[in-house]
Amino acid sequence: MSQNIWDFWADRYEKLWVQKYSLMPTRDLVVAELQKYIAADFEEEINLLDVGCGTGQLLEDIKEELRHHNLALIGIDSSEQMIALASKKVTNGKVIVGDALNLPFLDNHFDFLTCCHSFPYYQNKLKALQEFKRVVKPGGYLFLVQASENNFYDKVVMKLVKLTTGKASYPSNGQVRELVQKAELNLLNQKGLENSFFVPSIFLSTLQNGDKK
Ligand SMILES: C[S@@+](CC[C@H](N)C(=O)[O-])C[C@H]1O[C@@H](n2cnc3c(N)ncnc32)[C@H](O)[C@@H]1O
Repeated sequence: MSQNIWDFWADRYEKLWVQKYSLMPTRDLVVAELQKYIAADFEEEINLLDVGCGTGQLLEDIKEELRHHNLALIGIDSSEQMIALASKKVTNGKVIVGDALNLPFLDNHFDFLTCCHSFPYYQNKLKALQEFKRVVKPGGYLFLVQASENNFYDKVVMKLVKLTTGKASYPSNGQVRELVQKAELNLLNQKGLENSFFVPSIFLSTLQNGDKK
């Protein structure tokens, strides 16, 4: 895969100030949400895919916080440098270079799919959601989190962020709901991150692939 902007950011990524105000709180929120859905139902092996896994921070948190479960963790990211770093961290799982729009996994494989702050960079968001739905088991859950342009302040800040990331679009909550409906996924809820006033809105959409296990 060719050099991309995320290869440049990889070494610097865990030192960025947004870790404290946006990325770490996002990981905490996703882990808490996962714990709700896993606690009740799961005794057998849990297959979880993190799409756009970056340096593997979320997978590392999941491994630690859900250590009493039998986890099979996989991360995928289009940046070779991100995956090089993730592979040092995610020692009990697997991380691979690949594209969110063309996932190299069998249909109906994963119980859970997470995608944090990566969705804005996909040029075809509907195709990505359809791919997510394909690889998640019927009844499985998806956690989609990203900065979301819901008001004027969000739009201004995200315009500045785009200067550092290249082409991106940060869908509003309404746009996410429309995409989710088109991809024939069920939206269970949308929850905002309670973050500092200067951070643009970040929303977690919890989705389910149908409603049967
Ligand atoms: C802002 S980082 C987020 C990393 C991590 N998920 C987090 O929450 O900190 C965005 C990540 O999405 C990845 N990415 C962008 N487009 C992608 C694509 N089409 N397929 C897979 N990964 C992609 C980038 O390489 C980068 O690692």
